[in-house]
Amino acid sequence: MDKNTRGKLWFVGGGPGDPALMTLRGMEILKSASLVFAPGHYKDSYAEELKGKTFHDPFDFHYKDLVGKIDAALADGRAVVFLVPGDLAIFSPVQSIISRYPDAEVIPGVSALNAASAALKRTFDLPGISHSTIATSPKTINNSPDTIGELSRHQATLVLFMNNKTPDALAAELSEGYPPDTPVAIVSRISLPGQGIVNTTAGTLSKDVDPEWFADEDAFKIIVVGKALTASEDPSWWDRRKDMRDARLKKNAKE
Ligand SMILES: C[S@@+](CC[C@H](N)C(=O)[O-])C[C@H]1O[C@@H](n2cnc3c(N)ncnc32)[C@H](O)[C@@H]1O
Repeated sequence: MDKNTRGKLWFVGGGPGDPALMTLRGMEILKSASLVFAPGHYKDSYAEELKGKTFHDPFDFHYKDLVGKIDAALADGRAVVFLVPGDLAIFSPVQSIISRYPDAEVIPGVSALNAASAALKRTFDLPGISHSTIATSPKTINNSPDTIGELSRHQATLVLFMNNKTPDALAAELSEGYPPDTPVAIVSRISLPGQGIVNTTAGTLSKDVDPEWFADEDAFKIIVVGKALTASEDPSWWDRRKDMRDARLKKNAKE
């Protein structure tokens, strides 16, 4: 890392909450910062790492005031970190801020999608079962030509962020494509106190979850739908791969 951090700005992937899941580079940069912008919940989970730093929740400001604060801090030579929840790649409302600071550096993080896969101990694609993973949100998909019902027809693995639909409403949309026995996993508060997993199916979702909690987009939860959640993978893949490599090596040795 550049030792001169004066007047620098970083956007650092903050991961799902537990600071142990931040990258080493992100943590090194966070430690060097004197001013940190992060959504309020990071104040608790990153309490130790934020000690002695000025902390602001960016959502407390209008855009003009927010960039004004960043500009002033950079002009004062302060090292500024903007903690991006999870990873920048999906559902991060910070593009208008990043674009304003072309010299800023972006450090990737662990998305809630990755953290959900790890919590479930499942890869989201499996040969012959699901070859694509669709990440979307019932909240932001409004006003788009896609709908959850449309996407369900692909029967790919569906990963839902920021759910605001009731269990009945979501189940009705899922039923447009997924058979009722399709597994559904709801992983909540990943890496935070109270982490939990609810395993259900597209057909039983409505009766298995508390409707108020389920439709609360601010309750940290990821909903994963698809057969890849429970399907078993044929381990003969390993043998085929080994045999193919051995055959290639043998052929190369002969040539
Ligand atoms: C505004 S989006 C941010 C997503 C973020 N950019 C990412 O890569 O994970 C917030 C949503 O991410 C999911 N999320 C974030 N942290 C989570 C956690 N610790 N456990 C479960 N879901 C989480 C929830 O769906 C939450 O409503």
